[in-house]
Amino acid sequence: MARITASVYTSHVPAIGAAIDHHKTGEPYWRKVFAGYDFSRQWIQSNRPDVVFLVYNDHATAFSLELIPTFAIGTAAQFRPADEGYGARPVPTVVGHPELASHIAQSVIQDDFDLTIVNRMDVDHGLTVPLSLMCGELDPAKQAWPFKVIPFAVNVVQYPVPSGRRCFALGQAIRKAVESFDEDLNVQIWGTGGMSHQLQGARAGLINAEWDSRFLDRLIAEPATLAQLPHVEYVREAGSEGIELVMWLIARGAMADIAGGAAPRVAHRFYHVPASNTAVGHLILENQA
Ligand code: DHB
Ligand code: FE
Repeated sequence: MARITASVYTSHVPAIGAAIDHHKTGEPYWRKVFAGYDFSRQWIQSNRPDVVFLVYNDHATAFSLELIPTFAIGTAAQFRPADEGYGARPVPTVVGHPELASHIAQSVIQDDFDLTIVNRMDVDHGLTVPLSLMCGELDPAKQAWPFKVIPFAVNVVQYPVPSGRRCFALGQAIRKAVESFDEDLNVQIWGTGGMSHQLQGARAGLINAEWDSRFLDRLIAEPATLAQLPHVEYVREAGSEGIELVMWLIARGAMADIAGGAAPRVAHRFYHVPASNTAVGHLILENQA
């Protein structure tokens, strides 16, 4: 059977992608950000998944105000890196897993979560920057991403957005779906976006390191309680774009301890301010074998 072996959490700042694509990762400003991922690029070599279920948000790239799915699962065979206004990132095309994605759609929709099924979608920095952070720079002419990816887009851009509580419950349904897929697959689930940041308005530039640190503590140790936080607290404490953090609760809800198993092992934890306008947070949690 397929198994969720680990969850990975990371911010997805577009300037991080630009720093990689323009070979600036060694500059003093960026070195401090990328240093937090040195461990992770090693870790993923020795914990190589077959498939990553990648929870992210589309930033009005594939979707727009014309069409706003709350939860959208990518069931296509491949997904092209999107042109977000300055050309597509020079990264490999993302290869999907249509069979597993369709199975998850079937199972999760039968568990009463109304997913939108997406058979064609370009993927923006929300998905490609976490891939680059974990896999390093790849030449799209010669190299492929080292695993398949099921994109799972969550609306955290246009209100009303889903609650942390619903995201956490959805993670549990995703776990059940993955673990009922009849093929031996090593699956990881990634939750991306955050941490505190606000890109617009009077509080643009807001960072709240203390709140972020507590969020990481609680995500590890008391996720069910953390899932009860109302939207207004994310926005007040972590800024308008801090609401992206509800996506981390989908990944956390899919871990074994939530279904009665052992607590996960914290393989890695990193936090750094700033990267562009954002506080960068990163966690790797492993399910115990
Ligand atoms: C920034 C962060 C984001 O999450 C995003 O989607 C766009 C920009 C930033 O920090 O600049
Ligand atoms: Fe974002």
